[in-house]
Amino acid sequence: MKPEEIKLRELHLSDKSQLAKLANNKKIWDNLRDSFPYPYSEKDAELFISVTIEESPKQNFAIQYDGELCGVIGLIIQNDIYSKSAEIGYWIGEPFWGKGIAATAIKLITNYGFEDLRLIRIYAGVFDYNIASMKALENSGYKKEGVFKKAVFKNDNVFDEHRYYKLNAH
Ligand SMILES: CC(C)(COP(=O)(O)OP(=O)(O)OC[C@H]1O[C@@H](n2cnc3c(N)ncnc32)[C@H](O)[C@@H]1OP(=O)(O)O)[C@@H](O)C(=O)NCCC(=O)NCCS
Repeated sequence: MKPEEIKLRELHLSDKSQLAKLANNKKIWDNLRDSFPYPYSEKDAELFISVTIEESPKQNFAIQYDGELCGVIGLIIQNDIYSKSAEIGYWIGEPFWGKGIAATAIKLITNYGFEDLRLIRIYAGVFDYNIASMKALENSGYKKEGVFKKAVFKNDNVFDEHRYYKLNAH
């Protein structure tokens, strides 16, 4: 697949139905923080999109595959002494899994974070069972830097969190 088929773009309110349709999936929620809504309604999508429209600089983007919105990726810029670091977060709608979309989207937003936002470090926290996400990060040049033992409490169970990072080479 050609990487040109995968793009990041700003979210628009007209994306709300497609966003809600794809996000409303327990298999996605199982890999994200509990603050991610489930069930995920069109109202939730509208609220999220409204927040991203106000962002300056932009931190959250729609992932577009062959002209269709297929997921969301974002950077959470940290505060205080961590202001040159950001946490990366992303999800892809289930019909689009296994096409290399996450790996390409991670590369694109990482370039944006380093070139446009002048970040020094981008990192991710992955639940221990999420092998697909770990592979997507590794395929995008991220390295594992450690395991936060029993850091995650999700679905009434305790899990390790695998931390990945990439540094700005410049
Ligand atoms: C994790 C997720 C982003 C991956 O998206 P994707 O576009 O399918 O990922 P990619 O196609 O770029 O890469 C997935 C890799 O994992 C592999 N993979 C997929 N499912 C797997 C599984 N169950 N076990 C092991 N490997 C798996 C693929 O083969 C591929 O590896 P390869 O390139 O070496 O063949 C997507 O499944 C998702 O959105 N999940 C729910 C939300 C989530 O986990 N977000 C990230 C939180 S850290």
